[in-house]
Amino acid sequence: MTRVLGIETSCDETSAAVVDGAGDDVVLRSLVILSQDAHAVFGGVVPEIASRAHLTSIVPVVRRALEEASLGSDGLDAIAVTYTPGLVGALLVGVSYAKALAFATGRPLVPVHHLEGHLFAAALEHRDAIPPFTALLVSGGHTMVIDVAAWGDYRLLGATRDDAAGEAFDKVGKLLGLPYPGGRHVEALALQGVPGRYPFTRPMLRQNQRPGDADYFDVSFSGIKTAVLRAVEDGAHDAPADAAAGGGSASGQAQRHADIARGFQDAVIGTLVAKTARAARKYGRTRIVVGGGVACNRALAAALRREAAAFGATVFTPSPRLATDNAAMIARAGLFRLARGDVATLDLNAYATAGLPGLRAA
Ligand code: KG4
Ligand code: ZN
Repeated sequence: MTRVLGIETSCDETSAAVVDGAGDDVVLRSLVILSQDAHAVFGGVVPEIASRAHLTSIVPVVRRALEEASLGSDGLDAIAVTYTPGLVGALLVGVSYAKALAFATGRPLVPVHHLEGHLFAAALEHRDAIPPFTALLVSGGHTMVIDVAAWGDYRLLGATRDDAAGEAFDKVGKLLGLPYPGGRHVEALALQGVPGRYPFTRPMLRQNQRPGDADYFDVSFSGIKTAVLRAVEDGAHDAPADAAAGGGSASGQAQRHADIARGFQDAVIGTLVAKTARAARKYGRTRIVVGGGVACNRALAAALRREAAAFGATVFTPSPRLATDNAAMIARAGLFRLARGDVATLDLNAYATAGLPGLRAA
């Protein structure tokens, strides 16, 4: 059995975790996630604040993860760390700490691509969330549909042409006056909304779209964001068409916002589900794995399950703690990379962006 410490500091959570195992038989021994809440005040992550917060918390967070796993640093077999993509200043805190710990303990240093981590998250909880599968990666920074033939063998089928899915939720949250990050607030508000009152077009879904068309698997969310803005503004000026919604009163506006949230979420989910199902059908996959913060969205999971059932596929989503940024998925991906011999020397650097290892174009 191999014990790997994972460290994640790419954005605004400082996280450390220990996994223990071999191959796909892996147990999570500990997971500590410290979320920085200072950014909510600014309506977005402030890089300089994030770096400083990582600096103050990295030592106690790692210490706590080791304690919860009943280990000293000498009990580890390797140290895995997110080195890309993310905020460079934030990443550097984790990378520098991991390098120092690898040097002090003489253990291998394993660089992990953050998105590969998200692909591994569901496998920590579901034994069958292993390749081959179709992956839907939906986070604040990325939206991708990937065919995963094997761990480390990734085929990029589709991606967003502008905003990431989570980013779209966050921007719409802002337009609706909800706290940052908006994703889960939009989901909660959409529950109060009436379906169909704001039938936004599902982005990048045309009639007669064919495999091979450039937009067959791609998604785009900037247009719907503008449509939401217009709906919010129109509602603010006009008397609502639906008098039953309460006229121009405050409760009328609240209902309208809920209806808009519902319309937005339904359209985004409609697109994500359609593209993912296309990918699974094309490659004959019977498993669909969702990763990234938007995987917390229950309406998305439910819609994907309904669609997948139609062709006999099973959908795996990580629980919210493992869907959003965390070090357990980094340790899990690190275990895989270690077994492949993908270790780094102590001159490892952090990068704002870098290609996902093993990713090829469709
Ligand atoms: O994966 P993640 O923690 O960070 C990145 O790597 O980006 O994803 C964060 C994103 C945010 O945009 C957040 O609003 C979104 O995930 N999110 C949700 C939900 N929970 C988190 N979006 C929609 N519905 C949710 N329930
Ligand atoms: Zn992430």
